[in-house]
Amino acid sequence: MLMDITPMMGVLDDVLMELQDCALPLLKGIMATDKEEVAFKDLDMAVLVGFMPRREGMERKDLLKANVKIFKAQSAAALEKYAKKSVKVIVVGNLANTNCLMASKSALFIPKENFSCLIRLDHNRAKSQIAIKLGVTADDVKNVIIWGNHSSTQYPDVNHAKMKLHGKEVGVYEALKDDSWFKRMFITTVQQHGADVINARKLSSVTSASKAISDHIRDI
Ligand code: LMR
Repeated sequence: MLMDITPMMGVLDDVLMELQDCALPLLKGIMATDKEEVAFKDLDMAVLVGFMPRREGMERKDLLKANVKIFKAQSAAALEKYAKKSVKVIVVGNLANTNCLMASKSALFIPKENFSCLIRLDHNRAKSQIAIKLGVTADDVKNVIIWGNHSSTQYPDVNHAKMKLHGKEVGVYEALKDDSWFKRMFITTVQQHGADVINARKLSSVTSASKAISDHIRDI
């Protein structure tokens, strides 16, 4: 079920057509609506994606005022009213951590542990940067940790990260032996990659964010 506000229904129809064109093996049916009572009815999982996006020169925290209101007043209320009490809620709209907290505090009948927000994009970015640097694939890298918010203050931590190198599992930090790359390049690149994408395409990330959402949902 896809939902957006009424003026965006044309765009939503495009999303619907493109999803059908993907011939996804697990997609049994799909509908687009602008009605909360239809979209939220008996939901098992809600992915809250579409809010005011960040533009060039903005920090994610600049979206706080506009988006928290939508989370409190609309999404949380609709979830409480129509979704199953066991619904799992994944918050993507920025500032994701704060919006997630607000939604979980507002939807009182849904257990707090059912709420999570998207940090997986930072995790995937961190894995990829390591993979590019070491000439392996992102799949060869594991146990990277992202501490903090989905914001430029996050801390990507490789202290426990491992990777496959020539068939053997080794520590990422030990394999690279380049403390200054980790401290100077790696951390800032991961922290700033959302802004880099916005600078390059004048819109925030789509493909990488979608992949991160599907990784997050699969692991849940
Ligand atoms: C991202 O990290 O790409 C998204 O959260 C969009 C943004 O504002 O950076």
